Amino acid sequence: MEREELAISDDLEEQAWKLLEKSIIYYQGRPIGTVAACDASKVALNYDHCFVRDFVSSALLFLIKGRYDIVRNFLAETLKLQPVESQFNAYRPTQGLIPASFKVVSTNDQEYLESDFGEHAIARVTSVDSCLWWIIILHAYVKATKDINFALQPEFQQGIMLIMELCLATRFDMYPTLLVPDGACMIYRRMGIYGYPLEIQALFYTALRAARKLLICAGDEEIVIGIDNRLPLLRDHIRHHYWIDMKRLNVIYRFKGEEYGHLATNQFNIYPDSIPYANLAIWLPKHGGYLAGNVGPSQLDTRFFALGNMMAILSSLASEQQSQAIMNLIEEQWDDLVGEMPMKICFPAVEKEEYRIFTGCDPKNIPWSHHNGGSWPVLMWSLIAAAQKTGRTDIGKRAIEMAQKRLGADQWPEYYDGTRGLLIGKEARRCQTWTITGFLLAKELMRNPNHLELISFGQFDLENASQACEL
Ligand code: GLC
Repeated sequence: MEREELAISDDLEEQAWKLLEKSIIYYQGRPIGTVAACDASKVALNYDHCFVRDFVSSALLFLIKGRYDIVRNFLAETLKLQPVESQFNAYRPTQGLIPASFKVVSTNDQEYLESDFGEHAIARVTSVDSCLWWIIILHAYVKATKDINFALQPEFQQGIMLIMELCLATRFDMYPTLLVPDGACMIYRRMGIYGYPLEIQALFYTALRAARKLLICAGDEEIVIGIDNRLPLLRDHIRHHYWIDMKRLNVIYRFKGEEYGHLATNQFNIYPDSIPYANLAIWLPKHGGYLAGNVGPSQLDTRFFALGNMMAILSSLASEQQSQAIMNLIEEQWDDLVGEMPMKICFPAVEKEEYRIFTGCDPKNIPWSHHNGGSWPVLMWSLIAAAQKTGRTDIGKRAIEMAQKRLGADQWPEYYDGTRGLLIGKEARRCQTWTITGFLLAKELMRNPNHLELISFGQFDLENASQACEL
């Protein structure tokens, strides 16, 4: 980089750190999280809350910088919000859940935390990802501080067990994946992602890997056996049924429908006519591929969802070969998947009748905006992390260099619009904290790839898993 460009980038980082400091929330005098956005020009709605998923990039950054207190306080306080009793009350959150977000409420004589499990959220969506991210952050905390005793405290072990019980319970279906309602993750509105969305499956797999390491004391408890059983089943299911490349597309193209019984090759009864072959066959590069957005009964959602694919690489849910193929695809279809701002939340956008049906005519999710094909700078850290893990640093470098030319001048928007991400998001908040931390974290990961170990897992190996874990 030229000297002048380096100076600009240093200034930008300094500005970003200052804004991040301003976003910190204090509770009883201690830092416990960061607000979603500090944009005084818009109605706050719940952007003055600390969202668990938004805090992930803040947490990793604070851990890298040795500011352990804020992450420790966040983990301890959010754990206190987790319901521990099972109650048959449809209007109360289920035992084990971690809220989507919380805020500090101050009255004359006291301060308390108000949480939202979805009972206040727009469209009353449930955050399934929060409890998974919570375990992932806890694991990163223990990795960074080497303080396993923190996670061994009884209330933390119980917290992990409750989340695991909730996720591992058998319900109405018999798949290793998790069945969730629409809007249960980063895409926090109706977007046709109910069922078995990739993002949730990838976070589920990552949380299982993390929980397995943190439940040291549980020995051969039922839950640990449950995790060991589930991990390979989930991994193989995703690697097989979600994978799309030219070879697989050819298999799907010739699928027969209506197969009954164990010997069916088209197990989910995917009707080939539902797949946009013409586009996909042209779009897929020879050595590229990706994990589909969703797989269920007669459903193969061929949209590319960024966070699910990136987390699949980081957790080794995707095989090494698949991880390389995903990075090849990103490189070859850069304009579509990254454009001018890393990176698209999903591709392509749903349009016309599909938009109307999938989103319920949501004006915020019009084609190429917000969740429907918008570009989210927060995704940059996961792209850079995946690029580092697969040895594709050139991809990471290209992404950061492009983003840093615009983010500061645009006042750190929540998201960008348009097929190339050239427009500042129509409804985007400015000074969005995870945009700021996504950039800062990406920078740190580029500088020192060793930080990857906070969030990355090697291939799962049952024999090693059952030995006492070294974190
Ligand atoms: C939007 C996003 C959600 C995020 C929240 C706060 O609702 O969809 O993922 O957590 O804003 O930033």
